[in-house]
Amino acid sequence: MTRGLFIVIEGLDRTGKSTQCAQLLNHFSVSGTNAALIKFPDRTTSIGQMINSYLQSKTDINDNAIHLLFSANRWEMSQNITDTLNQGTTIIADRYAYSGVAYSVAKGLDYTYCKYPDRGLPMPDKVFFLDLPPQLAQQREDYGDERYESLDMQTRVREAFMKLLIDNQYIHKIDVTGQSIDSVHDTLKQQLEPLLTQQQQPIKHTLFM
Ligand code: TYD
Ligand code: MG
Repeated sequence: MTRGLFIVIEGLDRTGKSTQCAQLLNHFSVSGTNAALIKFPDRTTSIGQMINSYLQSKTDINDNAIHLLFSANRWEMSQNITDTLNQGTTIIADRYAYSGVAYSVAKGLDYTYCKYPDRGLPMPDKVFFLDLPPQLAQQREDYGDERYESLDMQTRVREAFMKLLIDNQYIHKIDVTGQSIDSVHDTLKQQLEPLLTQQQQPIKHTLFM
């Protein structure tokens, strides 16, 4: 049995990540592929609840400490990710370690430092970055409810993502400006096709170059 694929969708807030994750999940289930959706932060664990209250500005947490908590929130899920993939189930992740780095770098933390805690996590087979100018994301519904959802912060997050994209050429940028949900979904499916037919290699653990 071949293992499942590990697909990650990244992007700024309000760029359509969750919608595209749901569409992909539906696509896999219709085509008879076992697939599961995961989301970071996972707000259901005790670490996740600390992150949730931080994001809702109910608590303040030191920048380094919250960076490590976001990473710990991935580590507490890592064995589960590996096991699920090895059981043949494809995983679609709504954000992963790339968000972890980009948001903390945007706050002024050191880039090299930020990558460290996530080193050794299961490596995705494909990472998409849904790119939308922060000014356009800002105009979308529900924008601005949580910490980080300001134009100034999102602009710096995008810059940090651009650095990650240059250093990690396997991250695939998709310009979603003016694109419909269906057309973005079609682009994602096209990009995944070559992966689906090839025999999967064992899961790697080399997230960052
Ligand atoms: P988000 O995906 O926006 O959650 P929701 O869809 O429930 O609004 O994630 C919450 C915020 O957390 C988002 O602004 C990005 C930020 N974040 C980090 O700062 N570091 C991380 O490691 C992750 C995964 C997210
Ligand atoms: Mg959000």
